[in-house]
Amino acid sequence: EKGGFRSFMEKEIHDQPKAVADTLLGRMDVSGRLVLDELRIDESVLRAVDKIVVVACGTAAYAGHVAKYAIEHWCRIPVEVELAHEFRYRDPVVNERTLVVAVSQSGETMDTLMAVRHASEQGATTLAIVNTHGSTIPRESDAVLYTHAGPEIAVASTKAFLSQITAAYLLGLYLAQLRGNKFPDEIAATLADLREMPGKIQQVLDRAERVREVARWMADSPAVLFLGRHVGFPVALEGALKLKELAYIHAEGFAAGELKHGPIALIEPGQPVFVIVPSPRGRDSLHSKVVSNIQEIRARGARTLVVAEDGDEAVVPYADEVFRVPQTSTLLAPLLTVVPLQIFASELANAKGLDVDQPRNLAKSVTVE
Ligand code: BG6
Repeated sequence: EKGGFRSFMEKEIHDQPKAVADTLLGRMDVSGRLVLDELRIDESVLRAVDKIVVVACGTAAYAGHVAKYAIEHWCRIPVEVELAHEFRYRDPVVNERTLVVAVSQSGETMDTLMAVRHASEQGATTLAIVNTHGSTIPRESDAVLYTHAGPEIAVASTKAFLSQITAAYLLGLYLAQLRGNKFPDEIAATLADLREMPGKIQQVLDRAERVREVARWMADSPAVLFLGRHVGFPVALEGALKLKELAYIHAEGFAAGELKHGPIALIEPGQPVFVIVPSPRGRDSLHSKVVSNIQEIRARGARTLVVAEDGDEAVVPYADEVFRVPQTSTLLAPLLTVVPLQIFASELANAKGLDVDQPRNLAKSVTVE
């Protein structure tokens, strides 16, 4: 059942190319146009949406954070991402023109369900991005876009995360297509890039031996920091969450730009810091800013563990380790850069002799508020 792997989590990490491929499957026609008739929301309603609010918990919320960057870029609709339990208990501005997107692997998380109910009461349209068929959240939502990750057994989410990002991206591209925000060519090109992701994720898995080695050496680390910028920021948060959940190591993710506003005070000689580096071929000066951050922490003695694209040589002088991922667009990179972080956490927990699939105090699905 574990397919020869030591844990379900390890198996599920290796299932990720298929999880992403299956989530894309059957959602495009032969001409490369997105077809999401399964949503069954009136097109006029989707055209009128003037705000999207993503509600979710844990890893699913980080998938929402990643999707915010893409959806705002493609659709020019403001996207807020909020932890479902926080959303429900303030007085959020939600109305008939709000699309509330609930992201959940199990479809049973009570905090997320309560947020959906609250949004419905305010007249919002609710859409569930959920993995488990027939679960409660899609039943109580106006529409559902299923992720096709297959059953996820390990408590810590991996393949569900990648398929949630994929599904949320499909939603964003679909809205852009529907509302005429982007040229059809650009949408088709992004879909073509998405179709290449399963093969690229496989390449990251094929090269993961070094990540495992480093994880084993680092089994005694008291604390690990993660830095990222743009879509790399939620990836950093997810990398830190995986390490807390699985290895019980104090871990924190930061926006790289925030370093100088506080977290740099934590850097002392030997402190391990993962840095998620954006593509040097991407927009603006994102890449060079993050490279400067690596330089700054390295100068203060940090041990820098860098996740960077193939061919990015600028990071080499400041990196103690470079974990490579294949080249892709800035927005699609999270589907690759999170994978070494998942493997790192799983391997480190394994080296500490911990139960990777059933971490202490955690449940796969939390059905109480
Ligand atoms: C937590 C799980 O309790 O719930 C996490 O341990 C998960 O792995 C989070 O990300 C949200 O769960 P779901 O099922 O709503 O995606």
